Amino acid sequence: MLEVENLRVRYGNIEALQGISFHVREGEMVALLGSNGAGKSTTLMSIMRLPPPEGPTVASGSITFNGADLLPVAAHDIVARYGIGLVPEGRHIFGNLTVFENLKLATFARKDTQKLPDDYERVFSLFPRLRDRRHQRGDTLSGGEQQMLAMGRAFMSGVRFILLDEPSMGLSPLLMQELFRVLKELNEAGTTILVVEQNARIALKYAHRAYVLEAGKIVMDGPAHELARNSEIQKAYLG
Ligand SMILES: Nc1ncnc2c1ncn2[C@@H]1O[C@H](COP(=O)(O)OP(=O)(O)OP(=O)(O)O)[C@@H](O)[C@H]1O
Ligand SMILES: [Mg+2]
Repeated sequence: MLEVENLRVRYGNIEALQGISFHVREGEMVALLGSNGAGKSTTLMSIMRLPPPEGPTVASGSITFNGADLLPVAAHDIVARYGIGLVPEGRHIFGNLTVFENLKLATFARKDTQKLPDDYERVFSLFPRLRDRRHQRGDTLSGGEQQMLAMGRAFMSGVRFILLDEPSMGLSPLLMQELFRVLKELNEAGTTILVVEQNARIALKYAHRAYVLEAGKIVMDGPAHELARNSEIQKAYLG
């Protein structure tokens, strides 16, 4: 579904990705692991075609989605035309809107409006807390609830491929498990997922495969259960 080949990107003179290659097949849940500054968010911004200064400049390589070249595509078309959605680091919900309004706003570009009632129901059954709080303002939600809302928004936007940037950030271990269980459920229901995580333990528990990024290079990859048993990974990322 997604194929990244030999991708080199930079911010000014700094090369943030030094020729990375990876792929995500339809129906997979793939994790991209790595520590601070490895280039994980940069990878997601490259796929979403976020322009500078926030996003990087692509120097060489390719990003294709179902065979289509994404490099010349504008950021707003990535969601609308290609059905790729990003749940960015730090959530980005609308604090002055209610939970329901936040979800509703995410559906604006959808043409299949007859599916909306079922999709709201699906989000509320995946996240019962959001149902209870549907008339509450976004900025009064807890951090974990905001993360759920951000995921709910990505789902309501109707995309079939979701990129997530460190969804476990700042959550309690219990809430982390809850969130990843829901991600897995979404994945099993047909959404393809690429999840960026510093928390290798939880990501490897739920993902099918993973790649490890270090200083702009992919240094390891494989099935999640194999990486979880790998001694180098254990030393560096699993404490
Ligand atoms: N907009 C930007 N302008 C300049 N440099 C940037 C920009 N965004 C990121 N960088 C640099 O690119 C490198 C990779 O950053 P990136 O945000 O992709 O790392 P990350 O793996 O997501 O790290 P973290 O786990 O801390 O979020 C870092 O050295 C960072 O300082
Ligand atoms: Mg990041």
